[in-house]
Amino acid sequence: MKPVNIGLLGLGTVGCGTATVLQENAAEISRRLGRDVRLAAVCDKSAGKAAEIAPNAAFVQDPFELVQRDDVDVVVELFGGTGIAKDAVLKALENGKHVVTANKKLLAEHGNEIFPLAESKNVMVQFEAAVAGGIPIIKALREGLAANNIKSIAGIINGTSNFILSEMREKGSAFADVLKEAQALGYAEADPTFDIEGHDAGHKITIMSALAFGTPVDFGSCYLEGISTLDSRDIKYAEELGYRIKLLGITRKTDKGIELRVHPTLIPESRLLANVNGVMNAVRVNADMVGETLYYGAGAGALPTASAVVADIIDICRMLGADAANRVPHLAFQPGRVKAQTILPMDEITSSYYLRVQAKDKPGTLGKITGLLAGQGVSIEALIQKGVINKTTAEIVILSHTTIEKNIKAATTAIEQLDCVETPITMIRMENLHG
Ligand code: HSE
Repeated sequence: MKPVNIGLLGLGTVGCGTATVLQENAAEISRRLGRDVRLAAVCDKSAGKAAEIAPNAAFVQDPFELVQRDDVDVVVELFGGTGIAKDAVLKALENGKHVVTANKKLLAEHGNEIFPLAESKNVMVQFEAAVAGGIPIIKALREGLAANNIKSIAGIINGTSNFILSEMREKGSAFADVLKEAQALGYAEADPTFDIEGHDAGHKITIMSALAFGTPVDFGSCYLEGISTLDSRDIKYAEELGYRIKLLGITRKTDKGIELRVHPTLIPESRLLANVNGVMNAVRVNADMVGETLYYGAGAGALPTASAVVADIIDICRMLGADAANRVPHLAFQPGRVKAQTILPMDEITSSYYLRVQAKDKPGTLGKITGLLAGQGVSIEALIQKGVINKTTAEIVILSHTTIEKNIKAATTAIEQLDCVETPITMIRMENLHG
């Protein structure tokens, strides 16, 4: 069979990794596929880099030229972002090219435009590398778990944040100090906002939610709360109570609608997810027939992410001759049967909660606080007084049972109005992740 020709947009970290995998593992890929995959053309700002990384490929300066070339069958978009990347992908699809992308932002924010265009042009968009780097979670959600009703997904899907939280816990360091360390090590970008404020994880959980529940992508409805305001005291107190704090992307189907959220979360230390440390990623899926499954691996890095990109290329090559109706649908469900469902506002989600309250150390304080929680129907699982600071102020940590978020918010607002309580109260959501 004649080789499949790849046009590569971008020779950044993942682009170089992809060129390396295609070239170093060419024989093994051909042995699996029954035909060669050839890097035919690359587009990058630097011609010198292109000559060094992909000496046998044509160098093309203009991305819009690359996506129209007759000698390109599959366009691999690794520019990132939603500027040129989006225009180039749309142009590639209009030209009838299949697309592989690692661009979570593009798909989470514009997937509802991109997937229908691909379907109308009878081409495929593959995006394994967009979520959790080298972990084949898209494949698992779309294919491996296809017999199930998926109930929930919870994932550590931002390595930078996980590294920072792991270091804060192990060394007791402050957020700002660990962030500097992460930047020095090259894990965190000079502008780390995207990673530490939950946007990156939000894009990834948005994509997984759509695949799990057969909905359009709806990043605008995803609640984002990052780790930049997390106090290492809370990490320490959580640990004393048998919990770890992780930045989780969570999506869950409930009778009222879908929960879609990213925030720091206490999880019991005995859960496998609680023991995923450093820059590693892990995704836990709970589904009705199989139960709980867990996927662990490198969520970033040149070769792990390229492993996912190249697996997508191989998938496309295998399906080139197949009838479009027999392809795996982009969003896991038949396009005509993907339907929007209510994404619950945060007030309506169900969770349990960690509260840290600073209050005057005098008789009756605890009674007033627990009374206000009870008034909102919030039941307490554990309550400890951590000690007295400044001689007169006590620090109280409360773990609640499961409740509706608006109830705990109403209770904390009322507690903050007590004369004996200092504001603000620290509130962190807690997930038991059982069953
Ligand atoms: N910046 C991401 C992370 C990897 O820290 O996990 C790419 O999404």
